[in-house]
Amino acid sequence: MLDALWERRALLVSGKGGVGKTTLAAALARAAVASGRRVLLAEVGVTAEEQDNPSPLGALVGARHVPGPGVLEVSPGLSFVRLSAIEGQRLFLQDVLPLRMMADAAMRTRALRRFLEAAPALREMGVLFQMLHLVRRTRPDGSPLYPLCILDLPATGHALAIAALPDALLSVMPGGPIGRSVREGLALLRDPRLTGALLVTLPEPLPVSETLELATAIQRHRIPIAAGVLNRMPDNPFSPDGRAAVERLLDEHGPHLGQRALGRLDRARTAQARLAGNLSAPLLTVPELPVSGRELVERLATYLTRPTLHPAAPLEGESAGARP
Ligand SMILES: Nc1ncnc2c1ncn2[C@@H]1O[C@H](COP(=O)(O)OP(=O)(O)OP(=O)(O)O)[C@@H](O)[C@H]1O
Ligand SMILES: [Mg+2]
Repeated sequence: MLDALWERRALLVSGKGGVGKTTLAAALARAAVASGRRVLLAEVGVTAEEQDNPSPLGALVGARHVPGPGVLEVSPGLSFVRLSAIEGQRLFLQDVLPLRMMADAAMRTRALRRFLEAAPALREMGVLFQMLHLVRRTRPDGSPLYPLCILDLPATGHALAIAALPDALLSVMPGGPIGRSVREGLALLRDPRLTGALLVTLPEPLPVSETLELATAIQRHRIPIAAGVLNRMPDNPFSPDGRAAVERLLDEHGPHLGQRALGRLDRARTAQARLAGNLSAPLLTVPELPVSGRELVERLATYLTRPTLHPAAPLEGESAGARP
């Protein structure tokens, strides 16, 4: 299943706040590089201030902090970039204006900058355009410079804004250079061979409901869903017999803290089954690990490259930590 993911040109990592998008984007990038892919790991820095703060995603893959929208080679095969609306808008103007100088001069105009920053659709458009620009870049032999771009999206609402953007823009600007580049963006975003959204969620009832709603909304905009990712699946240390024995013990000895852990495990399994049954895309289950930061990223990358995840072993219903 992961090999199929790596064949795409763009993976959009999306989901609610705090579910592990940034961690997984970093781990997926590392795993793809370990399988021999050249990866551009991208984050969206929406405002000019955000652009200058250290990047959480960059830190997770060891990118030194360089303010601005340039691409940074982090390690062999792995590059990192902070997509910026302003940079995308500048690139776009460069495409449509006859001289590069004119685009740079136009972007220095405060009134134009304020106008571009104020309209959310134009901001999203800038981000999309910079991504397109990077996806289109080639090496001297004509092959893509960044065959796989993994994009860490800030939050669910933003992913939807990007998904909704091309239709919105096309309805107001069907022709001309904007229309053209939006159409090109759409062709990329809607082609399941080229693009896929990864919907990250947690194994709890509410996040799973929200993820199923997000899936419907994203599909309405015809963005293909590459996979659901159930993150932080608790370890299941029980064999069926062991579980029955523990339950008997708990029943005999009254309320116990262990019951909370058992309850969480049950909720997680129910959530997993519900997601696997209702999402029209494969489900990847990722374990909860007792570490954080870069160590977490490295361990998740190792987990994602373990041979049992390839070839397409049945992931649905599989518990990450299940004992044989
Ligand atoms: N599989 C995991 N096991 C243990 N901890 C995890 C796992 N995945 C994520 N975390 C932890 O969950 C927290 C949130 O993760 P992360 O920042 O990647 O989420 P996010 O979805 O990018 O959040 P935001 O919406 O704020 O950008 C972090 O502390 C991270 O270390
Ligand atoms: Mg994040």
